[in-house]
Amino acid sequence: MAFPKNFLWGGAVAANQCEGAYQEDGKGWSTQDVTPRGIVGPRTEEPTPDNMKLVGIDFYHRYQEDIKLFAEMGFKVFRTSIAWSRIFPKGDEEEPNEKGLKFYDDLFDECLRYGIEPLVTISHYETPLHLSKTYDGWVNRKMIGFYENFVRTIFARYGKKVKYWLTFNEINSVLHQPFLSGGIFTEKEKLSQQDLYQAVHHEFVASALATKIAHEMMPEAKVGCMILSMPTYPLSPSPDDVIKVMESVHKNDFFGDVHVRGYYPGYMKRYFRENGIQIRMEPGDEEILKHTVDFVSFSYYMSICDTADPAKQIRGQGNLMGGVPNPYLEASEWGWQIDPQGLRYVLNYYWDRYQKPLFIVENGLGAVDVPVERADGTKTVEDDYRIDYLQKHLLQVEEAIEDGVDVMGYTSWGCIDLVSASTAELKKRYGFIYVDRNDDGTGTLERYRKKSFYWYKDVIATNGEKLHE
Ligand code: BG6
Repeated sequence: MAFPKNFLWGGAVAANQCEGAYQEDGKGWSTQDVTPRGIVGPRTEEPTPDNMKLVGIDFYHRYQEDIKLFAEMGFKVFRTSIAWSRIFPKGDEEEPNEKGLKFYDDLFDECLRYGIEPLVTISHYETPLHLSKTYDGWVNRKMIGFYENFVRTIFARYGKKVKYWLTFNEINSVLHQPFLSGGIFTEKEKLSQQDLYQAVHHEFVASALATKIAHEMMPEAKVGCMILSMPTYPLSPSPDDVIKVMESVHKNDFFGDVHVRGYYPGYMKRYFRENGIQIRMEPGDEEILKHTVDFVSFSYYMSICDTADPAKQIRGQGNLMGGVPNPYLEASEWGWQIDPQGLRYVLNYYWDRYQKPLFIVENGLGAVDVPVERADGTKTVEDDYRIDYLQKHLLQVEEAIEDGVDVMGYTSWGCIDLVSASTAELKKRYGFIYVDRNDDGTGTLERYRKKSFYWYKDVIATNGEKLHE
């Protein structure tokens, strides 16, 4: 049996995509509250009723019911994030909002009651709007101090309840989606490379500082970075294509490399030199970066190709960045190409590069689900397509473990249906649990177990043996 006994099986969500209750108990507005169409449409001045995230799936009020269902599936771990604007409504206050803190106390207690370990993303695409508008998000060095205050507060409060922490969700996505990922208010088109990479530097320092503080305050804690992984294959065997791929992969590896090695790699110094970018470092920054992570976590949905031939540089759909489609692969209804072997590839790639434990904290299929009624009147979804996707990916995880890769766990994305990040729809469902809510705002918010719910339960109960049936 390949999966280790202590393998952390579970599921993942993010606060902004499921909690709703966007102004309850003193919560401030976050960048998500003014992006009703996800990253596809423009942001609004203030929250508008067509923003599906304002209600989400009402997890804020229904988390007990949902965690009970996760426990029924046998989850060992549940990944969620802390909405920064619940704890610090504007982001730059000195004192936290007690009601916000209390909510996560209750949520983590509920997980622990069932023996489910919380895995917490400190910042998942939900920068307080005030920090974005007033400081231009991570472009401003002051963000490090605001983030430090936030992490000290939550480490002090939840240190005894939460062992696994992730500093920033998909930290490399800031290169592609500066507002969503880095709370950078300046329009992407007007943002200079200088400011963008300076923002990256501030996030690196903040992440390493959080790791340092976590280790000081919570000796048992394990801190990971979180990377949007998207293996990139050369479109052809031409050496030009291979070098083009190397360079585009370097742009992503930059993030893991700094987090694991603790210093800037030579290939990025060259890029900065040749593009007139000068990272402003303060005394002490290089020392702080040496506080490296305990494990590397990543999301995996798809792979892409790249080519040096401008005529073939036709970008397809994909998770936040997209790429040149692979002629050998099929795609999901949203155009994301499906490549289970890419997961084995990326696990081996990171293991060979870092020799750090790896955690797959997002993977799954966004699809349109059609609820059906069982003979007894209860509802379900016959989501064999989701089972097929997950099974094929998990078999590749098993292959990677056989290859000798140290894999800590797997949390399937959107283990309960939630609002999509890129398109802000509920129609794009990932869950084992169906939530009765539609994009026109109708629905009872009731929860139903899909066919995949029972399948995943068996996978966990058999520690992966079920995958071979
Ligand atoms: C990842 C994000 O990029 O992909 C999640 O970390 C997101 O927040 C997930 O939901 C799936 O993307 P989408 O756009 O289908 O929700």
